[in-house]
Amino acid sequence: MTENNKMQTKQIEIIIDKEFDSKVDCQVMLPYYEQDGITIYNADCRTAMRTLRLNADLTITSPPYNVGNNNMSAGKYLIKKHDALSDEEYFELLDVALHLMIENTKYYVFFNIQMLSSNRITILELLYKYRTYYKDRIIWDKTQVAPAIEPGVMNSRFEDIHIFTKFNPHKRKFDRCNFGRGEFNNVIRGNNASRNEWAKLHRATFPEYLPALLINNFTLEGDTILDPFMGTGTTLVAARKLRRKAVGIELRQEYCDIAIKRLAQMEMF
Ligand SMILES: C[S@@+](CC[C@H](N)C(=O)[O-])C[C@H]1O[C@@H](n2cnc3c(N)ncnc32)[C@H](O)[C@@H]1O
Repeated sequence: MTENNKMQTKQIEIIIDKEFDSKVDCQVMLPYYEQDGITIYNADCRTAMRTLRLNADLTITSPPYNVGNNNMSAGKYLIKKHDALSDEEYFELLDVALHLMIENTKYYVFFNIQMLSSNRITILELLYKYRTYYKDRIIWDKTQVAPAIEPGVMNSRFEDIHIFTKFNPHKRKFDRCNFGRGEFNNVIRGNNASRNEWAKLHRATFPEYLPALLINNFTLEGDTILDPFMGTGTTLVAARKLRRKAVGIELRQEYCDIAIKRLAQMEMF
């Protein structure tokens, strides 16, 4: 943390929404895995975050993209019907999850998503609803991507990383960061994860450099990182390598098991 980046005490308080708080349906939640500062919950992140009331330093996450809600079919490409909530269900998921992420995070929430025809109305509504907590935006330029689905459609080469916070959201300056003037760009360039072995088991894994870069620049050793849509646990692996603690939440048990396997592999080196 540089001298001029010392934390400031003035903080905007999040408005607690009684509607969310009244939906507490579970009082105790046991971890699925807990070792050396890394904890995994096999649960719906909405229930988990309401129950656990975490106080993480940073959240880095990527929710489902609702890609299967795309009614479009083009030529030989038929969109499969998984990851397919209705617009209402999808909005409810992201709305409650984002609200709870902001509540459960002391500093910044990095929320990675790609705008698709199947989710863009929801995302635009979400950004509008949470506009008072919106701090800044990073573009993740994946540099090389598959060609678009048909002629006349642009190749989707970038994804957004929206940054939300209850900690001075109105200021562009990050009071809690490790970079000085001119040292951090709001465009991150690098391949997606399609070539790593975990990408064969889960279609939307982070490349490890992405959470690692954010953890390095926005946290200190010993801080706690939350990923409520953990998937195969890339954020947790990056956090452990950088000597941070981490909490991952994932609905599907098979992905929790992959994350545990990845963490166990790290111990062998
Ligand atoms: C885009 S993926 C995250 C991938 C992750 N960044 C990685 O590197 O593997 C989103 C994940 O959220 C999980 N998920 C969906 N709904 C959830 C919920 N309500 N609570 C917790 N996890 C959920 C999905 O099973 C999926 O693994």
